[in-house]
Amino acid sequence: MSSTESPLEGLPIPAHIAIIMDGNGRWAKQRGQPRMAGHRAGTENIRSIVSECNTLGVRYLTIYAFSTENWSRPSLEVQGLMQILGDFIDRETKNLHEQHVRLRHLGRLEGLSPRLRRKVQHAIELTQHNTGLTLAVAFNYGGRADIVDAVRGLVAQGVSLDKIDEQLISDHLYTATMPDPDIVIRTSGERRISNFMIWQAAYSEYWFTPVLWPDFRPEHIHQAIRDYGRRERRFGGLTEQS
Ligand code: IPE
Ligand code: IPE
Ligand code: MG
Repeated sequence: MSSTESPLEGLPIPAHIAIIMDGNGRWAKQRGQPRMAGHRAGTENIRSIVSECNTLGVRYLTIYAFSTENWSRPSLEVQGLMQILGDFIDRETKNLHEQHVRLRHLGRLEGLSPRLRRKVQHAIELTQHNTGLTLAVAFNYGGRADIVDAVRGLVAQGVSLDKIDEQLISDHLYTATMPDPDIVIRTSGERRISNFMIWQAAYSEYWFTPVLWPDFRPEHIHQAIRDYGRRERRFGGLTEQS
């Protein structure tokens, strides 16, 4: 099934991998191409990574595709990224559905055009009963917006003060019902979180690579999982080795 033969035998497979797909612009620049060529190559690259994660038995893959801060880019680039999301849905949904992938969106859908919103909603509805990997696309996503929207939801429901705890807040984030990411991968050499999953990644492992997103391959996922397998997660407690 896998493109590689049991490369990770015996290693724990993270239930939730989250990826900050960064470096499309630099990838294009290195080739003397416009930034949009990098975004297109980056979007093409998603297919093989989703397929590999699905094969490996990863339950949730979140990809950070457009942040609430990315609206500050030149409007042509923003428009191009919106177009690319629509094209991605048109082109990939059938294939994802056939792989039993369930699609999910994280972020503010209301910021997108009605047409794009409908496309996203249709893809989510089509795949909602699939039992393979859940692919969560963080688009118009911000970690702070996530928390603001959760708080707004709680206030709107008139939840009383004594009912508010960490679980309730988690249950009102865009990621409700998803486990927190076990590992957050960021490509392109940047070592920051850029407003991604600031609540959910409180105890995630981080894995940084200088590889630019369009050059990120299944073997890099294997590297990340191998590295993850060597780490000791303590969650603030003590373990036998401590
Ligand atoms: C990541 O690539 C994609 C988005 C943020 C939309 P960038 O566009 O940030 O690429 P660099 O960081 O400029 O190379
Ligand atoms: C983070 O990348 C957002 C996405 C990958 C969608 P950016 O390129 O926007 O982050 P900064 O601006 O370098 O922090
Ligand atoms: Mg970037």
